[in-house]
Amino acid sequence: MRVIFLGPPGVGKGTQADFIAQKYGIPKLSTGDLLRESVAKETALGKEAKGYMNRGELVPDGVVIGLVEEKLGSKECQQGFLLDGFPRTVTQADQLSTYLTAKGEALDRVVYFSLSKDEIVRRISGRRSCPECKAVYHLESVPPKSEGICDTCGKSLIQRNDDKPETIESRLAVYQEQTAPLIEYYQNRNILGELDGAGLVSAVQDRLVALLA
Ligand code: AP5
Repeated sequence: MRVIFLGPPGVGKGTQADFIAQKYGIPKLSTGDLLRESVAKETALGKEAKGYMNRGELVPDGVVIGLVEEKLGSKECQQGFLLDGFPRTVTQADQLSTYLTAKGEALDRVVYFSLSKDEIVRRISGRRSCPECKAVYHLESVPPKSEGICDTCGKSLIQRNDDKPETIESRLAVYQEQTAPLIEYYQNRNILGELDGAGLVSAVQDRLVALLA
């Protein structure tokens, strides 16, 4: 299975991506996670990406495309993959298409997650993440067992720099301008499926499994 999760920030892509990757035994490639890892390790790529991310802007296409192609070329991606947060521009989508065609591969499905703006803002504002194992929580809807502590590895949870109120609006605007055009892009290729992202994590999960069946 070669699948893309597309949708606005905070809609729940990452939460569902972990579940689907495990269920289908395919690797999840989250460009957000890969970039945050590079920032934390202070690599050259991370230093370049940091400012864009903190401002809620997209990291330049060339940087992200190189990162994804390197991962897609690895052995673990040969039987399929789940791309979470990539592509995010028409240039990225075109480049991915060229790359896969050259390998004789094609995408099976693009899942577009939809959700009201109010709920998106509520989800992003209450998100807390584990800097160690990358587990994602929400203060109200997906709380950890002990306040502020990761259930899995016991580290203190943090709020992402780009989840601060002043950055949320600019991320949503960037999404509308640069990423939303991909909905029509993949609709025209007859591989887009829309998923209602509202409701409990388990309810979204059930709808997603049905959509991918
Ligand atoms: P990235 O990390 O990809 O951020 P994003 O797309 O903005 O998505 P999020 O991680 O914010 O949200 P999500 O949809 O995964 O939601 P989640 O499951 O966490 O990118 C960050 C930055 O990196 C970008 O701004 C950009 O700078 C750069 N970047 C990344 N990819 C790039 C690319 N391709 N090109 C250029 N730049 C790139 O859920 C959100 C919250 O809701 C959590 O608290 C969760 O617990 C909770 N939640 C989830 N589901 C439910 C539910 N059903 N009910 C209630 N709560 C829920």
